[in-house]
Amino acid sequence: MGAPGAAALLLLGGLLCGAGGQRVQVQEEVVALAGEDAVLPCVLGAAGPDLKVSQVTWVRAGRGGRQNVAVLHPRLAPSFPGAGAGGRLRFQGRSLQDATLLLGPLRLDDQGVYTCEFATYPDGNQGASTRLLVLAKPENRAERREVAAGSVPTPVATCTAAGGHPAANISWESPVPGTAEASAEAAADGAVTVTSRFSIVPTRAADGQRLACVVSHPSLPQPESLPVTLSVLYPPVASISGYDHNWYLQRREAALHCDAVGNPAPTTFAWSTSSGLLPPSAEARGSRLLVHTVDLLANTTFICRASNALGSAAARQPVLVLAQPRTDGAGATGGIIGGIVAGIVATAVVATGVVICRQQRKNRTARGDDSLDEPPPYKPPPPHEKLQEPPWAPERQLLPLQPLGPEPPDEAGGTLASGQALPRYHELPTAEEPDGDGDEDRDEDKDRDGDGSYMEQLNPLYEELGSDGDAAAPAQGFVMSPAVYV
Ligand SMILES: *[C@@H]1O[C@H](CO)[C@@H](O)[C@H](O)[C@H]1NC(C)=O
Repeated sequence: MGAPGAAALLLLGGLLCGAGGQRVQVQEEVVALAGEDAVLPCVLGAAGPDLKVSQVTWVRAGRGGRQNVAVLHPRLAPSFPGAGAGGRLRFQGRSLQDATLLLGPLRLDDQGVYTCEFATYPDGNQGASTRLLVLAKPENRAERREVAAGSVPTPVATCTAAGGHPAANISWESPVPGTAEASAEAAADGAVTVTSRFSIVPTRAADGQRLACVVSHPSLPQPESLPVTLSVLYPPVASISGYDHNWYLQRREAALHCDAVGNPAPTTFAWSTSSGLLPPSAEARGSRLLVHTVDLLANTTFICRASNALGSAAARQPVLVLAQPRTDGAGATGGIIGGIVAGIVATAVVATGVVICRQQRKNRTARGDDSLDEPPPYKPPPPHEKLQEPPWAPERQLLPLQPLGPEPPDEAGGTLASGQALPRYHELPTAEEPDGDGDEDRDEDKDRDGDGSYMEQLNPLYEELGSDGDAAAPAQGFVMSPAVYV
């Protein structure tokens, strides 16, 4: 803590005040850190012109009674008679009205009560006292104690606040109910080391729980929280997963997994069967068992034994080898769910296909052409920017991939803007020019007389879908294959 910190601590001491209605003004309490300097203010206030100060003395109340530690005289040099604080005391100024005392670097045994006394004429002696608190910041640490699982309360974490002055206060925040027990030990200089042990019933469930040791001390702006993650040691608990109830003869690469927890984490896995050894086609890879080809030897109960330093546990999985693959999925929930999902998806796909086909047939019927089977009728484009640009045809072919939903008009407009060859496609189908690519008729041309209303007739789907009725929008749904003819 630097000078600002010390200043802040000084402020803690409160205001200058005159004790007992006297005119001597001191700070009731001064708090400072060991190693830093303390300022003990002492001012004689409201002194009249006639008042004479003959001497100022700082007195410390000690075990052996009063002890003078600093004396200020009008003509003689300041004197510091006390042995203990000898070289570490000085007056801030030389004025007999202001006997503010500096003490430092502070030691813990400087803590005490200091009285500042003025010897005056004609009023006599006047004094006031200051309590000096010297703080030492504790060194805090917390650690867990690994314990074996059990049913008796056991210390699982220790928290230490070392070298604090005064003694630090330790508490615990824990999701697991427990009790704390603290002890304190004072060093020769007065610093105190506090140790707190937190005890719980060390169940398996407590393993990995996080708790916190909270140290409070006057030198800390806020309590310091130290996290501890508990470690409760327990032997493995094992189970086997991965059996899908569909092991059939000649099946390739069937697998089982040994799921084992424990503290420490189980690292040794031994696989066997109820009949003894593993079948030759089975290969153990740590917690995994791979059966390369299922045969009758796999028609048995597989056993996994997981071990850690504290012990081991076995899990069993009976396997029924089938002559044929199971197709109904009856034995496996996964199969049932998979079947249902597949059925739904298939139904949706078919239904979508039917709807699309029906709509397109309707459209073609409405237009009276078989655009999907034959080249659609073609009508010469308008005079401006015609033909000449087959290159953009491929773009057109991509369009069918877009959703059938109505397009915002401006997007359709954008298409128009980029595809200069529009005129080739926006002609109405006519009987006389069957070789064209005109099937793409749709979009574009509001500029060509009445196309918009024509398109709406052509594409009932868009009406059904609640299209905004913009003639350009329907284009996307009907581009389909005719572009191939371009
Ligand atoms: C596997 O063993 C069971 C009896 O445990 C038997 O009913 C079944 O037929 C056997 N599977 C094959 C494919 O032999």
